[in-house]
Amino acid sequence: MLIHWSKTVILAGSLVAFIAAAPASAQKFNFGTTPSAEEIAKIDIDAMPDGRGLPPGSGTPAMGKNIYANSCAACHGVNLEGVSAAGGAALVGGRGSIGTPKTKKTVESYWPYASTLFDYVRRAMPFDKPGSLSNDEIYAVSAYILNKGKIIGDKDVMNAKTLPKVDMPNKDGFIPDPRPDVFNYR
Ligand code: HEC
Repeated sequence: MLIHWSKTVILAGSLVAFIAAAPASAQKFNFGTTPSAEEIAKIDIDAMPDGRGLPPGSGTPAMGKNIYANSCAACHGVNLEGVSAAGGAALVGGRGSIGTPKTKKTVESYWPYASTLFDYVRRAMPFDKPGSLSNDEIYAVSAYILNKGKIIGDKDVMNAKTLPKVDMPNKDGFIPDPRPDVFNYR
């Protein structure tokens, strides 16, 4: 039994090494494609909490309403309540629940920085079509989510200047990691 198990582990290990070498062999194995510079540019983003890295553009909750309905609601719910069958988490609710037995992590209850919302949606959402939204649309859908979480007002405009200033409810729920070997990430 034990021998079988360790063989499996070794096999899995070599498979990982094999996949890591994929770009050069993508064509050889007819699996996946090498992304073009243009495809990478569509999801390329590195937005910092202080706003560095956020691109030009802007949007309001009202502008984000239809974008959310068309591109997000199927997986995250009409009321942002999540759709477990689709794997899409609730995006609002649960405020004050972190650290209680009924912890519910959402953008509203958990995320410390609003810039992360723009960053994440741009690089990863919609799950089935990342890179398909313009920067204006991403600011707008971010505004819509923040407004539904009662974090910003109905008329608030989100852009590179205003988004980092959004006062996230759980911004004090995190402490800096004191380990010396992770200073690069601070
Ligand atoms: C096809 C289904 C699908 C669609 C459409 C979709 N999502 Fe998602 N979303 C997911 C899944 C699945 C995850 C979890 C991904 C993971 O953990 O890797 C997720 C995660 C997220 C998260 C992180 C939630 C958290 O607290 O961890 C946000 C924010 C989000 N999506 C926003 C959006 C927005 C905005 C749109 C529309 C522009 C969208 N999603 C469209 C499936 C979807």
